[in-house]
Amino acid sequence: MVSAGKILVVDDEAVIRDLMTDILAGEGFAVETCASGPAALHLLNDEGGFILLFTDIMMPEMDGIELIREARKVAPSVIPIVMTGYATLETARAAVKEGAYDYVLKPFSLSEIKLAVSNAFERHRLSNEVARLREITQLFNISEAIARIHDEERLVNFVLRAALERVGAERGSLMLTTPDGQGLEIAASVGVPEDAAKTVVKVGTGISGWVAQNIKPLLVEDIQKIPEVAEISRRLERDPSFISVPLERKPSSQEHELRAVGEQPRVLAVLNVSRKKEGGQFTEGDLKTLSIVANHAAVAIENVRLINDLEQAHLATLQSMALLLEAKDPYTHGHSQRVRDYSVIAARRLGMSDRDIETLRLGAALHDIGKIGVKDAVLNKEGPLTPEEWEMIKRHPVIGYDVLVPVQFLTPEHLALVRSHHERVDGKGYPDGLQGDQLSPLVRVIAVADAYDAMSSGRAYRKVMPNERIVGELKRCSGSQFDPKVAQTFVALVEAGQLRRSLPAAAAV
Ligand SMILES: [Fe+2]
Repeated sequence: MVSAGKILVVDDEAVIRDLMTDILAGEGFAVETCASGPAALHLLNDEGGFILLFTDIMMPEMDGIELIREARKVAPSVIPIVMTGYATLETARAAVKEGAYDYVLKPFSLSEIKLAVSNAFERHRLSNEVARLREITQLFNISEAIARIHDEERLVNFVLRAALERVGAERGSLMLTTPDGQGLEIAASVGVPEDAAKTVVKVGTGISGWVAQNIKPLLVEDIQKIPEVAEISRRLERDPSFISVPLERKPSSQEHELRAVGEQPRVLAVLNVSRKKEGGQFTEGDLKTLSIVANHAAVAIENVRLINDLEQAHLATLQSMALLLEAKDPYTHGHSQRVRDYSVIAARRLGMSDRDIETLRLGAALHDIGKIGVKDAVLNKEGPLTPEEWEMIKRHPVIGYDVLVPVQFLTPEHLALVRSHHERVDGKGYPDGLQGDQLSPLVRVIAVADAYDAMSSGRAYRKVMPNERIVGELKRCSGSQFDPKVAQTFVALVEAGQLRRSLPAAAAV
């Protein structure tokens, strides 16, 4: 550790060096002296930790002004003060222009030196304060942004990029602990070779594995100087300075209630950064910054997972409701799952995006949930329905929509699948009589999938149709009830035998 008030005095005259040492040491400062600019730069370079640099101006090898210029490169935070005689007063003023904070005139008195030192230390304290405030503000902004992200993949990528930027690193990874707690796998990386990004590291092996096992951060300024760390990881020879910090979870009492089963791993992830820009070494300050980022990130990851768990639980409840509903009617048993499967197969054939396919998958599973609000006697009636009974049946898309609107994680696209699956492209469907562009591509798919399942399953009032008749119906209703492109896709799938019933109707079992 460097003492709090370390001062370097540079003068080619031994008498000045001795005098300054006496004055400053007498005031309780740690003083080092040297006789030339190059010697001073060497000290600033290797030792570091100097707050003040007193330098003579006229020196043989390197003058004071050049020393100040060079010192700014190797120790930018050091505050230079020049010592000069009246003869070189103008040069002293020039030195101030070059970046010297102040000057003292030889022969100087004790009080002059004390005043210059106290001013310089005050400036040092203030600039430290400003830097600390800036750092805190930036960390605050990062933690705010982290808390706003609700998707784990986006979250880990943001955390890694923010961490790299804050500490000026060019390479890094965020490794998540595998569900069994035994391994670490890269969830986000920058500058890491692809093959390395795919490997799973066992907890307890390598640097990240060590950090996860010991739940301790690791700052290595230069791996060459720590052979026991160098032994752990050969790959870091090219990146001798690095930091690895664990993202530790803090279990709450509430969480214990929500996650009743299974002990979760204590370390959620490990954040690694290496390759400091311009070949520099990471510092204690960088480690502190990363530890703060890691703490916020750990809380955010936990929250995202908790919300996700709750959503899944909610979703499972809704799906059970839909299944329960179908279980009462032997003709529609498994209907929602089949509509889901057919919709997904057709959507893939139509080249829809993964996101759209996911929306269809969930929307289809829930599309008939509104039947919960229709009397069993009407739903399961054998024989033709009266006009009033038809009206009751036709209310189910709106009932389903109303039931699901309050569910936060369902998007308008999901809700449209529930509300509009009985709409037709010619506008003669229900409940809203939408037509043309008012029907989204996803609604067009589910409408055909739903009708296809009705035709291929049979109903209380109608037998299962043979494939040729189904194909005939799909073609006949193309452009009126069905979107032509979707109808054509279903025809192709039926003819190729690719719409096999994964879940047979209970009546057929
Ligand atoms: Fe329906």
